Amino acid sequence: MNQILIPNNDWDSNLYEKHAFVWQYGEDLLKLLNPKPGESILDLGCGTGQLTEKIALAGAEVIGIDNAPTMIEKARQNYRHLHFEVADACNFQLQQPFDAVFSNATLHWVKPADAAIASVHQALKSGGRFVAEFGGKGNVEAIVKALHTALAEINIPAQSLNPWYFPSIGEYANLLEQQGFDVNYAIIFPRPTPLAEGEAGIKNWIEMFAGSFLAGLSSEQQIQVTHTVEKLLKPTLYHEGIWTADYRRIRIFAIKV
Ligand code: BEZ
Repeated sequence: MNQILIPNNDWDSNLYEKHAFVWQYGEDLLKLLNPKPGESILDLGCGTGQLTEKIALAGAEVIGIDNAPTMIEKARQNYRHLHFEVADACNFQLQQPFDAVFSNATLHWVKPADAAIASVHQALKSGGRFVAEFGGKGNVEAIVKALHTALAEINIPAQSLNPWYFPSIGEYANLLEQQGFDVNYAIIFPRPTPLAEGEAGIKNWIEMFAGSFLAGLSSEQQIQVTHTVEKLLKPTLYHEGIWTADYRRIRIFAIKV
């Protein structure tokens, strides 16, 4: 495999493993993948490997890739018997085409969606399936709005700090069709997601996932922005000691024509 390392992609794999909902919800997507013994499957954006292992337990030959070296190091520690590589979703090359590409909670990090779809397409056998779930249009909208408001209060425009791609079904299905996929199934649905660690839930979520909004701020400013976000969101997203993030997922099942 050709690997493209992404510098500065220094995810904290220990903090990530405290957000177990990322792969716990992904188990539902595995049913749509329906991996079978002997199939070759690529897990695109495998994180620390929990779903890669489930695919392997179904008897498939699986490779997990992720662009974060820290995640791959942890995945290799977690599952020594499995194969993991550092690679970029937009630019990976594999020696053999796969029966399926699976991707959970990754593609909202990949703004050049057409490049990622092209890489998936070339990685699949003809008739191979692409099964993915990620944030869709309107995902974490209340959180994003609160971050924008909090940053505006200290005169920082947030537009260019947003790291995410949250497409509508129409937009994403169109990209898939343009690149030679038949879209058999596509759905967008709200999935309110309770966060762990009680009152600290939203602060920890921001630290883990929304760090790019805070990069470049002093630590005092980071605390101020986080407090403002908590204050703005508390009436709607915090109930009985639990924060719930306003996730909306897009889920697709497409076949390489
Ligand atoms: C998501 O899984 O939808 C998500 C995760 C982190 C940041 C934004 C969205």
